[in-house]
Order: sequence, then structure tokens, then C-alpha cells
Amino acid sequence: MKPEVLKIDRLVKSFNGNTVISDISATFAQGELSAIIGPNGAGKTTFFNLITGYHLPNSGKIYFEGKSITGMQPFDIVRLGIARSFQITNIFPKLSVLENVVATVITHQKGNLNLVTPTVKHKPAYDRAYQILEDVGLADRADRQSGTLAHGNQKILDIAVALAMEPKLLLLDEPTAGMSPEERWKTVELIQKLWQQLSITMVFIEHDMDIVFGISQKVRVLCYGSMLAEGRPEEISKNEKVIEAYLGEEVD
Ligand SMILES: Nc1ncnc2c1ncn2[C@@H]1O[C@H](COP(=O)(O)OP(=O)(O)OP(=O)(O)O)[C@@H](O)[C@H]1O
Ligand SMILES: [Mg+2]
Repeated sequence: MKPEVLKIDRLVKSFNGNTVISDISATFAQGELSAIIGPNGAGKTTFFNLITGYHLPNSGKIYFEGKSITGMQPFDIVRLGIARSFQITNIFPKLSVLENVVATVITHQKGNLNLVTPTVKHKPAYDRAYQILEDVGLADRADRQSGTLAHGNQKILDIAVALAMEPKLLLLDEPTAGMSPEERWKTVELIQKLWQQLSITMVFIEHDMDIVFGISQKVRVLCYGSMLAEGRPEEISKNEKVIEAYLGEEVD
């Protein structure tokens, strides 16, 4: 068995008395590529927000590489090695594609949140950022203003920014949302390539079941804030509870 990289222990989160994450426990194995699925409003993004420190849980603990990160600030969690992309992209639209990544590389290397204006003295950061853009297939658009990129490429840039944080665990929130079928599969290929190339643990939230069952080693199903099921794709696609609550007629 591979060692666990992330452990969630009885996590609870409510907003204004409304419980959104209800006593969730889970462990994520080192190096795994896994998916989280579930209906709209199930609590998937909230789950990522808790892991990355954007929200504080009401109770429960989160351990990364055996150390509790519960209550830590997002920036400190990033520095330990957890990065994410966002359901709604989180880039600086006025900056160029390259500058978006450079700014993150420099901020990550400096270890504080004071924004910097990249200058020529940051050549190694530029080189690193350009390398990341090559890895994700955006190098030919490095000088474009980010806000002018097509939606699909803005989502890829968001992943590039997350990679600039040198994560050991990368959380992707609906990386293919809003993309054309062609863009989707290109993105899926990219996710698989990055996962293999970087040997990191990756968890992605996804609504497209062909993608989920096509590339995940493990699938977890969130439903009304609870972990309804977890297992290998072939187990989940046949799970009666999951079919009834979520998959319905989507699965043969
Ligand atoms: N900051 C917040 N304040 C109040 N309620 C919130 C907040 N964030 C999320 N919620 C509520 O928590 C519930 C779960 O939301 P969440 O965004 O985690 O769902 P999701 O599974 O990611 O859904 P989707 O598939 O639509 O992205 C929703 O009812 C949402 O309105
Ligand atoms: Mg969401």
C-alpha cells in the first residue's frame, strides 16, 4: 500500500447553520490520480476550500504528509505543497500569460505574499515560468494578455499558475468545465501527462463521467455533504447507491 499524503478526519463545515460538509473522513494515497464527483451543491468545492485553508472547518482535522494543517492560512498550506486550480479561473486578466506564471514563481520562491513586479533580474523565474508554459502547451501564447485567451486556455493557465507553486498535491476544480469536447480531451491528456511527468498526487472534481471513469484510479462520491461511496471506477459505476443518488441514467 502506498503511504497516504492527505488524511481527512471527521470534517464538518456549515454556513449559517446549514451543514455543507457532514462528518467526512477520507485518505488519499501518495501519487494517486483520483476524482471527486457528486451533484451540484454537494460540497465538492467546499471540500477543496477546506483542504486549502480558504475555509475553516467547524470541526475535524486535515493532515498533509502526517502533519495537521487544520486552521493554517492558504499561503502556508501552499508552501507545504498543496496547490489548486479554481472552478472559476483565478488569473490576472491584464497580465500576460507569462507574467501570470512568473509572478507566482517569484512569490513562491520569496516565501511571502508581497506582490512583485517581475524585472530582468528575475531571469531564472522567467525561465522556469516559460518551462511550465511549455509543459502545459501555452508557450506560443506567452506574451498574450491573459484575459484575451479563449476560455479553455484560461483554465489551462490556471493550472500552470498552480504548477508554479511546485505542488506535491494538486487539486483541480472542474478543469474541463465550459470547454468544447475537443478542448476537454486535450485537457484530460494534459492532466494525465502532468501527473505522470511530475509524479504528484492529483485530485480533480469533474462532472463528465467519461473523463472520470476514463482516467481515475479512484473515485469518491460526495452527496449532500457526505461521502456516499469511494472505490475504483468500475466499482463506483456499478454501485447501486451511487447510481440512484447521482449517476442515474448516465451510466449503462
Ligand atoms: N461561502 C459560502 N457561504 C455560504 N454558503 C456556501 C458558501 N460556499 C458554499 N456554500 C454552499 O454550500 C453548498 C455546497 O457548495 P459547493 O460550492 O461546495 O458545491 P459543489 O459540490 O462544488 O457544487 P458544483 O458542482 O455546482 O460546483 C451550496 O449549497 C452552497 O450554496
Ligand atoms: Mg463546485
